Amino acid sequence: MVPEQQLRAYVDYLRDMGIYGLYHREDPKVLLPESLRERLSTATQPLAMPAPRHSAVLSVASRPTMSPLAAKPSPAVVSAPPPDLSSLMPKPPSFDSLAPIPTHIILAADRVAALDAVRAEIGDCTRCPLAYGGRHTIVFADGDPNARLMFVGEGPGADEDASGLPFVGKAGQLLNNMIAAMGLRREEVYIANIVKCRPPANRTPEFVEATTCSQFLLKQIDIVHPEVIVALGATAATYLLGVKQSLASLRGQWHTARGAKVAVTYHPAFLLRDPRQKGEAWKDLQRVMAEMHLTPPKRST
Ligand code: URA
Repeated sequence: MVPEQQLRAYVDYLRDMGIYGLYHREDPKVLLPESLRERLSTATQPLAMPAPRHSAVLSVASRPTMSPLAAKPSPAVVSAPPPDLSSLMPKPPSFDSLAPIPTHIILAADRVAALDAVRAEIGDCTRCPLAYGGRHTIVFADGDPNARLMFVGEGPGADEDASGLPFVGKAGQLLNNMIAAMGLRREEVYIANIVKCRPPANRTPEFVEATTCSQFLLKQIDIVHPEVIVALGATAATYLLGVKQSLASLRGQWHTARGAKVAVTYHPAFLLRDPRQKGEAWKDLQRVMAEMHLTPPKRST
């Protein structure tokens, strides 16, 4: 195994155990909250380790011993469910706390060039582990650089990774319908994600991935300067607003980020799984429409 693969395997393994501070240059002990450190120091049961996600890249010697013929893993390697450390993760910084809010708005005529410069700065990014998680394309954004309304999702899925555009799969079709129901066309809004690379198996982006990528979404928001941002789902709301709260507690009120009003609603992928919540999402979008003085299209009879 080449050294980079070996290093990646170790990083993935530690990340699966909930150790995130490794990606920072500072002393990881400083970055991990006290409660998390305690939990990790008492969670060292050698046979109860969670199976690494990317075991294919682990060396043979480090793989758990398991008969290839066994229908089930042998009891010796059956791991207890890994402790849920997500609640112990630090609260992310809000987008407002990451950089001063610009006092000057980029002129409409300069926005395409400014966004191109951000895309160029991202380059063929290897700043976070998602660069090594099987991504094919960096999904920057789609839509109007002068949009009044911006949608922020979580991260690209398989269709987006293949096409290079956000929200083009099934969830994207539902988002298109939501936009149309608001009396807008997709080309009239700006669509981006918290992370620009597809997380492996569409898992939720991890703290280090989301916070590493934030700097670019922040610049995109500052350039586009939307009046309203709709945070689609808990991940978008968590990182934009720097909160760790339930979606239910964030819906139905206005928040702010980078000078824009922020509404929180359900992610279209969630609505596909639970269509009963579409009515609730529509209420959220109607509040946005009222705020922006948008009128829904007339229904043809
Ligand atoms: N889900 C997201 O959050 N973003 C996409 O671009 C596609 C699906």
